[in-house]
Amino acid sequence: MVSKVLLRLVSAVNRRRMKLLLGIALLAYVASVWGNFVNMRSIQENGELKIESKIEEIVEPLREKIRDLEKSFTQKYPPVKFLSEKDRKRILITGGAGFVGSHLTDKLMMDGHEVTVVDNFFTGRKRNVEHWIGHENFELINHDVVEPLYIEGLAKRVGARLLLASTSEVYGDPEVHPQTEDYWGHVNPIGPRACYDEGKRVAETMCYAYMKQEGVEVRVARIFNTFGPRMHMNDGRVVSNFILQALQGEPLTVYGSGSQTRAFQYVSDLVNGLVALMNSNVSSPVNLGNPEEHTILEFAQLIKNLVGSRSEIQFLSEAQDDPQKRKPDIRKAKLMLAWEPVVPLEEGLNKAIHYFRKELEYQANNQYIPKPKPARIKKGRTRHS
Ligand SMILES: NC(=O)c1ccc[n+]([C@@H]2O[C@H](COP(=O)([O-])OP(=O)(O)OC[C@H]3O[C@@H](n4cnc5c(N)ncnc54)[C@H](O)[C@@H]3O)[C@@H](O)[C@H]2O)c1
Repeated sequence: MVSKVLLRLVSAVNRRRMKLLLGIALLAYVASVWGNFVNMRSIQENGELKIESKIEEIVEPLREKIRDLEKSFTQKYPPVKFLSEKDRKRILITGGAGFVGSHLTDKLMMDGHEVTVVDNFFTGRKRNVEHWIGHENFELINHDVVEPLYIEGLAKRVGARLLLASTSEVYGDPEVHPQTEDYWGHVNPIGPRACYDEGKRVAETMCYAYMKQEGVEVRVARIFNTFGPRMHMNDGRVVSNFILQALQGEPLTVYGSGSQTRAFQYVSDLVNGLVALMNSNVSSPVNLGNPEEHTILEFAQLIKNLVGSRSEIQFLSEAQDDPQKRKPDIRKAKLMLAWEPVVPLEEGLNKAIHYFRKELEYQANNQYIPKPKPARIKKGRTRHS
């Protein structure tokens, strides 16, 4: 009897234990299923995030391309005249991404011609002609003209004219003042600037020899000092040097007494002269420059005032082969091309100062401010010329 009671008691306790155990096992199972479920969700969510970011990685460049394409469809070019097939010329400009070349490109494009620029961006830059990229009348070729381009051959084949951008440096340190086109010059053939001076002299020789031999029409512009926006910041020329020094509050460096004279023309005047020469029948060399002569010291003071700078003027020792006088005689251009410079010096200088100020701002944003290079001038002839 007692044992029966005991057995029931034990089995009752066991049943309860069993229930308890079953309950715990059930709870554990539910917990583990829940855990797996939560785990799977977070894996799924992570996976979704990863896929989304992968898609974003692929799509973003495509979006950018679409934006670029939209921009190129809506890009505004400077206004261009419409010329008939008969009047529209196809013009190739070597060095067209440089200072003078890019302004010539602008003028010819706006006049309605088709322009192909060939440049290796050695001293020029794409930025100078970027506003034409994509225009139906414009082509830009990245090419080094040291490699054959056969321009002369091309000119002969298509009956085109060849314009040579020669220089006043062919007159060297002149004994004739002002310099006329029939003056043969006074060049030191082994001086520090001889490669440039003699190089241009020989380029003129070759052009005229080619004209005589092959009957190709040649135009030669003897360009005097030119300045304006897009000129090189650090080429050591007097205008760029003075503007940079004045803008940066550094002393304006004058070599010698500053009494040597120079005459500067604004770039738009030069470009008009080049176009007039190209369209003319004048096959002999023509001076293109501004005959308004100033001493270097006058330039320094004028630029200092226009910039509103408190820079001092510092005198350094005279440089070798520095021409004492340089002034074009432009009677030929006036007579034969009906051309003369029209932009007043101060107006041109203000435009150049504005350009340099902006360039310095761009560079300052990159924490870089260029310095002019007076060292180069000390060694050889100054680029006051
Ligand atoms: N700026 C002046 O005051 C001045 C005065 C006299 C003569 N010039 C003559 O006018 C021309 C233009 O002068 P600039 O002041 O505009 O100079 P620049 O240096 O701004 O332009 C020259 C251009 O020619 C390109 N170039 C150089 N070597 C090349 C090569 N091997 N192949 C292809 N392209 C090349 C350069 O990248 C640059 O775009 C030059 O022939 C220069 O001698 C200029």
